[in-house]
Amino acid sequence: MGHDGPMHLTVVDHPLAQAALTVLRDESTEAAGFRAAMNALAIMLIYDATRELSTQDITVTTPLTDTAGVRIDAPPYVIPVLRAGLGMLAGALTHLPDAPTAFVGVARNDDTLIPEPYLNSLPGDLDGRDVLVLDPMLATGGSLAHAAELIGDRNPGKVTAVCVLAAPAGVATLRRTGAVDALVLASIDDHLNDDAFIVPGLGDAGDRLYGLA
Ligand code: PRP
Repeated sequence: MGHDGPMHLTVVDHPLAQAALTVLRDESTEAAGFRAAMNALAIMLIYDATRELSTQDITVTTPLTDTAGVRIDAPPYVIPVLRAGLGMLAGALTHLPDAPTAFVGVARNDDTLIPEPYLNSLPGDLDGRDVLVLDPMLATGGSLAHAAELIGDRNPGKVTAVCVLAAPAGVATLRRTGAVDALVLASIDDHLNDDAFIVPGLGDAGDRLYGLA
């Protein structure tokens, strides 16, 4: 998967998600509150992003009788894009405690706006396994497109990008890669400014997560 058909787009408009997003946008939210809201929002986004996860039918014994149940078959690979994607990792592992995790590190050069890769711990072959790639911000789309292309080269199953915010240009870039089956996020904002920041946005997610803003 990852190469056929259009990218499926979901904007999670649940009131709890939108309230958490509002906390993230607020410039007066300090690092601890920012991390908490990011974690809460990630849990909601990943709940939606895993809607079609395959399950295995099992029998479970309640205190009263046997009944039908399910368990998660093969949890998707979870791949945060460093640094800011780490703010969504705990939320993903809350739902998928057995998910294998790999890391992609990309830092956007402030002058050229080109993403500069510095880490890749992906396995050589994903063996058709589904993937959740986490990055709160989809601005020009260069960073996530880079991660998606690395993933796409490794025989993934369904690839779902989970973001907090995007600019329209970033969604278009990701769509053009053809490497992502689905994008789940809380908002598509208005535009990118001259520094390629999402407007209205929430500022620099990495700096705000780690007390540097
Ligand atoms: C930010 C953000 C995304 C990327 C989005 O990361 O967390 O990864 O920029 O921009 P793009 O869509 O134009 O590529 P940054 O490169 O600042 O690194 P960080 O996560 O370490 O803060």
